[in-house]
Amino acid sequence: MLAIIGGSGLTQLTNLEIRKRKAARTPFGEPSGPLTVGMLGGRELVFLARHGYGHTIAPHQINYRANLWALKDIGVDRVVSIASVGGIRADLLPGMLLVPHQILDYTSGRAATFFEGAEAEVTHIDFTEPYTESERQRILKAAAACGEEIVDGGVYATTQGPRLETAAEITRLERDGADVVGMTGMPEAALARELELAYAAIGVVANYAAGRGDSARAISLADIGAVLEHAMARVRRIIEQLVIE
Ligand code: HPA
Repeated sequence: MLAIIGGSGLTQLTNLEIRKRKAARTPFGEPSGPLTVGMLGGRELVFLARHGYGHTIAPHQINYRANLWALKDIGVDRVVSIASVGGIRADLLPGMLLVPHQILDYTSGRAATFFEGAEAEVTHIDFTEPYTESERQRILKAAAACGEEIVDGGVYATTQGPRLETAAEITRLERDGADVVGMTGMPEAALARELELAYAAIGVVANYAAGRGDSARAISLADIGAVLEHAMARVRRIIEQLVIE
């Protein structure tokens, strides 16, 4: 079963026929909210709002472990993450969508593994390719089938937040090879791999990253809402296609 983890700008799927909302408890605590199980295009799907349904949980306070554990526990085997990002690469403009293929992790202090504690044996996962390629291809195919433009590939840098970056930090991220920057890509992707869930993401460019384009002097938070609203309508169409692929 497919799960969608919705980020900023996507706290619900409008066309989902909701069957049940399931409050979940896991050995790692509670997820960001109840899991919404419903039907979309005749297929069962689970939706979870990463920041909570009222958008109250900051990126560094999200219980990523509980979110993924709860999804696995309910029978999910594929996760598509929707994440708003700032565009660093010059051709990634606000409103554009991309399917990243690599990750850089600048977060700190987040619970980033299931393999810790007295009983757990230390386990190293292979993470050379952090996203599941077959799931990336499914997203690209679904976008093509519904005529929505989406960029194939990109390096997603995950920062700690919740503040946005300085212009110098963005210059450093770019030197490191980052194309976009967001705050929730990690440890979510690594935890999904630990649970052997297929995992891929749709990045929604909400703004130029700090110091770039019209964010040269400041990022206009007022503009982000409108950009996301428009772009998320496109993401919803891609998801509707994805479930029937
Ligand atoms: N930086 C970090 N996270 C983000 C941004 C950004 O510019 N835009 C949306 N999420």
